[in-house]
Amino acid sequence: MAPGAAPAREVVQDVGTPAEVLERHNLDPSEWHAVRFKEWEAQKKGGAIQTLCSSEFRRIDKAAEAMQRINWQPRPRVPFRSTPAKQYALVVPDAQIGYSRGRDETLTPYHDRRAIDVCIQAAQMLGDSLAFIVFCGDMLDCAESTRTFSRPASTQRTTWPAVLEWRWIMERFRMAAPHAACYWLAGNHEQRIQRVLTDAAPELSDLPPADDATGPPLLSMERLCGLDSIDVHYLGPYGSKEGELFHPWGIRFHHGQKVGAKGGQSVSKNLADALCSNIFGHVHRLEVAYATRPDERGQRRDIFAATFGCICHTDGRVPSNKPHHDWQQGLGILTRCTDGWVEPTAVRIRPGGRAAVFGQELTGSDYISDLRADTNYPY
Ligand SMILES: [Fe+2]
Ligand SMILES: [Fe+2]
Repeated sequence: MAPGAAPAREVVQDVGTPAEVLERHNLDPSEWHAVRFKEWEAQKKGGAIQTLCSSEFRRIDKAAEAMQRINWQPRPRVPFRSTPAKQYALVVPDAQIGYSRGRDETLTPYHDRRAIDVCIQAAQMLGDSLAFIVFCGDMLDCAESTRTFSRPASTQRTTWPAVLEWRWIMERFRMAAPHAACYWLAGNHEQRIQRVLTDAAPELSDLPPADDATGPPLLSMERLCGLDSIDVHYLGPYGSKEGELFHPWGIRFHHGQKVGAKGGQSVSKNLADALCSNIFGHVHRLEVAYATRPDERGQRRDIFAATFGCICHTDGRVPSNKPHHDWQQGLGILTRCTDGWVEPTAVRIRPGGRAAVFGQELTGSDYISDLRADTNYPY
């Protein structure tokens, strides 16, 4: 806007038909919607009755219009036709999807789109034998919904684009790995939304719609992201037994709560009291450790603890109380050999969204133009 210029009008209301009001106010019909038309009868001076009308126009909100045109595709899981002898699982760690909204409305993402894309490429590479994917929590940052930390203006109106982008990303995973069961574990960041609801309106926070009384609550992650149509299972709340996945491969998946002071210490702490192999997120570091212990019959038991880093930016833009982070980007792959042995592989994602997965070099790309085209959101 030029200095001293009047702010753009958003609503125009005047006497006359829509065509008359459009012409009188010089409104471009492609930029203005008629939202209200009223007609009434009035008496003229001589007693005759005349019909008068008024029209109200509202400026079209391009972003809001675009949202109404999103055409999400139902993409249910397609089970394996025959179970592969050797199978894989993919673990996708903390993405912290969110943005800093600038004064000019530009959205600077917390999440690293190249790192996310490399995870999707890994899913595609393993697709025919990928049995399941675990999104390990903190996939959404939900900075706008924190009630523990301050919420700068840059966090405002960021929840909706984050929900759209995350749903779009999950669809890409579903297409890359049509046979994979997909699990999304609640992290402490997703829990922020539930906490806001519970604290502000406990009587409403867990109500399902009347026509789906046994389904998830109205403002659940399941409904916000439309998880049903892409067969993604949300496990929550964070910190509860329901928020964990005990997988038949003998592994406990959870978002995690403990963070060690230095690299290696988080998995070490976890192994100290672990009864089975554990995979968790939350730490944003890439760590794997192993332990060999006798079981109750004195037989050798091998377990591991692993956390696979993060796929958010690590340059300090993700809100936290530190200017520098000891964080690494990565992803995890589990290989289930034909004899049932499960082996974890930590894959480092290096700058530029590059990763070597079982010897194959993958380079992630920024998918923003596809995201814009598919969601019509002005990212
Ligand atoms: Fe976390
Ligand atoms: Fe996190």
